[in-house]
Amino acid sequence: MVVFKNQKDFKDPVPVGADKPSPQIAAGTPEEPQWLKDFQRDGFVVVKGVVSKEKALNYYAPAGEDWLEGFNLGYKRDDPSTWDVKNLPRHNHGGLYSQYSFAHAQFVWDAKTEPKIVELFEKLWGTKELTVSFDGGSLAVPLPVDQVQGNAKPWPHSDQSAYRPQRHCVQGLLNILPNGPEDGGLNVLKGSANLFEQYFKEHMHLEPPEKWPTRDGYSWKEDELKWFYDRGCEWVKPDMDPGDFVLWDSREVHYGAFPKSQNKRFAVYICYKPIAFMSDEQKAVKVEAFKRGYCTTHDPCDFIIKGDQDAEWNIHWPYPKPVINEQGQKAIGLIPY
Ligand SMILES: [Fe+2]
Repeated sequence: MVVFKNQKDFKDPVPVGADKPSPQIAAGTPEEPQWLKDFQRDGFVVVKGVVSKEKALNYYAPAGEDWLEGFNLGYKRDDPSTWDVKNLPRHNHGGLYSQYSFAHAQFVWDAKTEPKIVELFEKLWGTKELTVSFDGGSLAVPLPVDQVQGNAKPWPHSDQSAYRPQRHCVQGLLNILPNGPEDGGLNVLKGSANLFEQYFKEHMHLEPPEKWPTRDGYSWKEDELKWFYDRGCEWVKPDMDPGDFVLWDSREVHYGAFPKSQNKRFAVYICYKPIAFMSDEQKAVKVEAFKRGYCTTHDPCDFIIKGDQDAEWNIHWPYPKPVINEQGQKAIGLIPY
């Protein structure tokens, strides 16, 4: 029987898969690309144009709009008077979708299987035998600030547990719309990933009696971040064009900013890791999660399912099931490598 661990009530004493080693990135080789060097130094890197601007704007953006409008809740892409939370499916942080089988929409699978995106992860890990996450995406429409979780304030976090201090996961997102300084989008605390381990080593005395979270996440408070600022880390919001991809170390402090302007922010989260780091049990759970249309956390191997997958309001497979190419089917585990 397949057992699902859920993000909302995860209480394991250690992070998922803590008994296994972490995969190592393919660094230090003569053919190591510059972007991989930048990634290691800064904890993130933007790779330009993994998808053409035309495809981002003419296929991915309208597909995101179709997905939102298709719920028939009142949202209309071209009518700002309908840009209201009551007209949209349930989400977090002003447009982060982790239910309604978002991870399995056709356009999301098309993004996950874009050859240049897959190739980035192949180069990063030094293998073609990868497995992919079922994580969500952002379809953020400008909304009144009081309709946005936390009044649209920054929510700095890392996506690894304090008890997993080494590099264990690398996340990514495909940016779909123009993304400048006033637009919503990824903010990163440049260089923080390389200090993550040291922070927790030096702050063991602050470990609360109930322990830090063992699920892969840590929410940072501003007074904790001062330690990073004192060591030279600075907030950066990388400028991104439609079709650009950003990779970041899951330990990097980051958050998705809500749009300050009247521009929307669309992005699909994509994460691959070597499939050799998955147990047979995890492989079975992943295939079952796919069949049910569940969304999962970022880590493609040591994942748990996102909250509210079985909530009474959630709808599995609100749209026709996706057509997925051979590479994608292998990355799910539907067919073997
Ligand atoms: Fe995150």
